[in-house]
Amino acid sequence: MCGIVGYIGKRAGAPIVLDGLQALEYRGYDSAGLVTINATGATLTKQVGRVAGLTAAVEPQAQPDHLAIGHTRWATHGVPSMFNAHPHTNTAKTIFVVHNGIIENYVQLRDRLQALGYQFVSETDTEVIPHLIDYYSQRLPSFTAALKAALADLRGAYAIAVITTIRPTTLYAARLSSPLVIGVGDGEHYLASDPAAIMEHTKQVLYLDDYDLATITADKISVHNLKRDKPIEHTVELLDFDNEQAQLGDYAHFMLKEIHEAPATIRSATLGRSLAAKNIVKLGGLESVVAQLKYIDRIVIVACGTSYYAGLVGEYLIEELAGIPVEVHLASEFKYRHEPFSRSTALLAISQSGETADTIAALKKVEDYGVLRLGIVNAVGSTIARMTDAGVYCHAGPEQAVASTKAFIAQVTVLIQIALHLSNGRTKLFKPLLKELDDLPAKAQIVLDQAETIKKIAAKYKDYRDFLFIGRQYNFPCALEGALKLKEVSYIHAEGYAAGEMKHGPLAMIDKDFPSFALATNSFLLDKTYSNIEEIRARKGPVVAIATVGNKHIADLADDVIYLPETLEQTQPILTAIAMQLFSYYIALARGHNVDRPRNLAKSVTVE
Ligand code: F6R
Repeated sequence: MCGIVGYIGKRAGAPIVLDGLQALEYRGYDSAGLVTINATGATLTKQVGRVAGLTAAVEPQAQPDHLAIGHTRWATHGVPSMFNAHPHTNTAKTIFVVHNGIIENYVQLRDRLQALGYQFVSETDTEVIPHLIDYYSQRLPSFTAALKAALADLRGAYAIAVITTIRPTTLYAARLSSPLVIGVGDGEHYLASDPAAIMEHTKQVLYLDDYDLATITADKISVHNLKRDKPIEHTVELLDFDNEQAQLGDYAHFMLKEIHEAPATIRSATLGRSLAAKNIVKLGGLESVVAQLKYIDRIVIVACGTSYYAGLVGEYLIEELAGIPVEVHLASEFKYRHEPFSRSTALLAISQSGETADTIAALKKVEDYGVLRLGIVNAVGSTIARMTDAGVYCHAGPEQAVASTKAFIAQVTVLIQIALHLSNGRTKLFKPLLKELDDLPAKAQIVLDQAETIKKIAAKYKDYRDFLFIGRQYNFPCALEGALKLKEVSYIHAEGYAAGEMKHGPLAMIDKDFPSFALATNSFLLDKTYSNIEEIRARKGPVVAIATVGNKHIADLADDVIYLPETLEQTQPILTAIAMQLFSYYIALARGHNVDRPRNLAKSVTVE
C-alpha cells in the first residue's frame, strides 16, 4: 500500500527519496509524488503511474535541495490522479504533507475548513491535513504548536511526513497506527514507512510509536509523545535486513523466487530452535512468558488472508499436539465481536508484514483485558512485533511479491514448533516431528524440482473460469489457501472447501467446465477423500490431485496428479502449499498477468 520516504541532510534529497520509493514499489501503488524544499521555496512533482515516470519528471540533477519527502499512493479516497497524488499542500504552497492511513473524520474537518474559506483540489482525506496545519499556524506561536493542534484534530490512522518552507531545514513526522521508521546517518537522517526504503543507506534505525511527533534535522532527532506529553528517547536498533535477499537475482519474478526459497525458509525458521538431537524445542522469543504460558487454557489466533489460513493450520496443530483449545478469527471480524475473555486466554497474532491494520486493531482491542499477546511475525521491528508481549519471528527475509508464499511456509513451521513447545513433550509426535522438520527442507526441494511438471498441468487448466480446492483435516486450510493463491494471481474464481462439505452444496457447481484441485495426500482420511473425488468424477468434473508418492490408486481417479514426498500429516501443509503456489504462479504466468503485482491488491494492508 502507500509508501512514505523522507530525507534531510547534506546530499540532494530527491534521488535518495526516489530510490526509496522505487524500493517500495512492491507494496503496490498507482501514483507517486515528491516535494523538495530550500530556503527560497518548494518544488512539487506528481505523476500517475510508476515511480520511473516520476523520476523522469523530477530530473534529480535539477533539484539539489537537502530536504525532500515522497510518496507512493494506493487509491482509497478518490481515483488515481495528479490531484489526488501526494504530497498535498495548503493553498499558499508552503506546507506539504504525505500520508499513509485514513483520516476517518476528514469530511467534518473539510466542511469546517471550507466554511472558513479553504479551497480543496483533491478528493482525498489527506488534503485536510496541510490546510489544518495552515489554519493553526496562523493562530499559534510556532509551527510545531500548529502541527500538534492539527494532529489532535485527526481521527483514524496515520503516518505522516510534513515539510514547510517556513522551516526549510526540518522534517516532521508523526504516527498513529501506521508505521514510520527513522534512519540514522552521519549528518543526515532518513524517514520511511518501511525500512526497505532506506536500508541501502543505513541499518541504524529507530521506530516511532503511536502519538510520537518527531522533529528531524540533519544533526538531531527529537521525539515528543503527544499522548504522554513528554519527550521520548528511542533506542537505535540495527536492521537485520540482507540487501541481497531483496534482489530478484536470476528469477523471473519475486513470487517464483520466494516459492523457491521454501527450503531455506524452513531452515531459518527452525535454526537453533528445533534441536532433534537433544529432543528439544527452544523458542527464545517465548522465554520471557514461560510462566504465564503454563496457565493458558485457550488460544485465540487473529490474522488476515494467508496468515489466517496458517492460523487455521495452527488450530489443528496446537489442539492435537498441546491439547489447548484454539479459535481462529479473521482480524477484521474479531475487532467487532463481543468476545468473552479471561486472563487465561492468550491472543496470538500472525502477520508477515507486522503492519496489517486489522490485526493491529485486534491486538489493540484486548489491550485492557490483561491477556497475554503473542505474535508470529516476519518483519522484524514491525508494529505487531513491538505491540506483542512475546513472540516468534519467522526469519523468512523480505517477501516482496504481493501473494504471500514463503511467509506461509515459515508461519506453519513456527506454529509446529509453538505447538510442540506448548505440549511440554507430552505428545508422542514430539520426536517424529522434530526429525521431520530436519528432513523437510530436502523434501521441499523435491517438490520444487517438479516445477516443470506442475507448469505443464497449469497450462492445461489455465483457461477455466472456476476452480474448487478440497481437502480434509490438515489439508482443509490448505485448500482455502490454495484457492486464495489462485484467485489473487490468476483472477480465476476459486473456492476452498472441506471435502466433506461437497454434498452439502458445492457439488451443485460441478460439471465438465468446473475443475477441482483435490488434496489427497496420505492420511487416515484418504479413503473419504477418494469418495469425494469419485463424486466429482461422476459429474464429469476434471480433477487435479496432490497425492503422496507411491499412491497407485490416485492416477485412476484424477486427470492429473502432482506427487509429493511422504511426510507427516502435521507437516503436510508445507509441502502441499509449495505445489499449489507453483500451480498458481504458472497459471497466472500463462494468462499473461503481472504475477508479482496482481491488480487491485497491495502488499501490507495498512488501512482497514
Ligand atoms: C495473500 C496475501 C494476503 C496477506 C494478508 C495478511 O497472498 O498476501 O492475504 O496474507 O494481507 O498480511 P500479513 O500477513 O502481512 O498480516
